[in-house]
Amino acid sequence: MPQLPVSVNPEETRTVLVVGADGTLGRALAKACEQEGDTVLETTRRPPPSPTNRILLDLSQPKCFPEFSRPLDITFVCAGATKLAACEQNPIDTTRVNVDGTVALVQSLLATGSWIVFLSTNLVFDGSVSYRSANDLPCPTCEYGRQKASAEKQLLTLSPKVAVLRLSKVVDCGSEPFSSWFQALSNRESVEAFTDKVCAPLSIQSTVSLLLSLARKRAGGLFQASASHDLTYAEAAALLAQQAGAHPEQVLPVRGKDRGIPASFLPRHTTLEPSQRLIELGWTPPDPKVALLEGLEK
Ligand SMILES: NC(=O)c1ccc[n+]([C@@H]2O[C@H](COP(=O)([O-])OP(=O)(O)OC[C@H]3O[C@@H](n4cnc5c(N)ncnc54)[C@H](OP(=O)(O)O)[C@@H]3O)[C@@H](O)[C@H]2O)c1
Repeated sequence: MPQLPVSVNPEETRTVLVVGADGTLGRALAKACEQEGDTVLETTRRPPPSPTNRILLDLSQPKCFPEFSRPLDITFVCAGATKLAACEQNPIDTTRVNVDGTVALVQSLLATGSWIVFLSTNLVFDGSVSYRSANDLPCPTCEYGRQKASAEKQLLTLSPKVAVLRLSKVVDCGSEPFSSWFQALSNRESVEAFTDKVCAPLSIQSTVSLLLSLARKRAGGLFQASASHDLTYAEAAALLAQQAGAHPEQVLPVRGKDRGIPASFLPRHTTLEPSQRLIELGWTPPDPKVALLEGLEK
């Protein structure tokens, strides 16, 4: 498992803000920061935020943003409208969240002195080319990717204290469709898996480790991380069948295209060229099969 070296200085107690602490990455990051001894503030849009470290924040309502009067060391911006179909169907509302609200929030947070880590995606590229370099110009083909590319560009011009980390698919124990597939395959049921959809998965564990390492370095600029190569969803299902002790024929390979999935949701490649600065921090692109199984661990 690729783990970054973690050097915790017990003298350094940081105040960390996790924006979007109810999401997959936000939840895992908040927990990891707490375990490191940081003071963690979390934003939620689910009232009432009862513990005192929970702050109500809706990115679509910049006029109602809370004031952050206390100094913040690091902010992880993990909130956003992350469903591709929702962005496609409702570009105006999702732009308000993923671009306008996000940029406005980061602007106000920079005034507190905070370093910012913003999470972005391989979908800022069209998926026609593997191992896209961070120097390549974004060329998104879906609305979500266009919004992320726009947010990235604006955020990076705000301050050298902003880091943008582009990630490929991040897998945790609840990630779909993998989690349901494993369950179904274990129950001797069949699953349909796309042969024309790929991912270069990262485990939640190694992603959190990478984010903590970036934050600790106070590194700004654009970063990229993905698995070392792509897996098709059919290959991922075959791996899960093996793990579940299922018969390989329980995996039914089908084409997403034949199931009506739009081409822009089926990029041929999702790998990203790893940033040299991440490699210098000890990051190694993981094998996708190892990352998938690690991420799904409970
Ligand atoms: N997971 C991945 O595979 C992956 C890969 C590449 C990049 N990323 C990026 O990493 C970030 C986190 O991803 P994730 O998988 O953790 O996402 P997620 O599980 O969908 O969580 C997103 C969070 O954003 C919150 N949110 C949505 N709309 C909001 C709004 N208007 N105001 C405030 N909060 C709002 C959600 O709140 P509720 O919980 O109340 O709905 C949720 O907690 C995203 O920016 C995503 O683009 C993720």
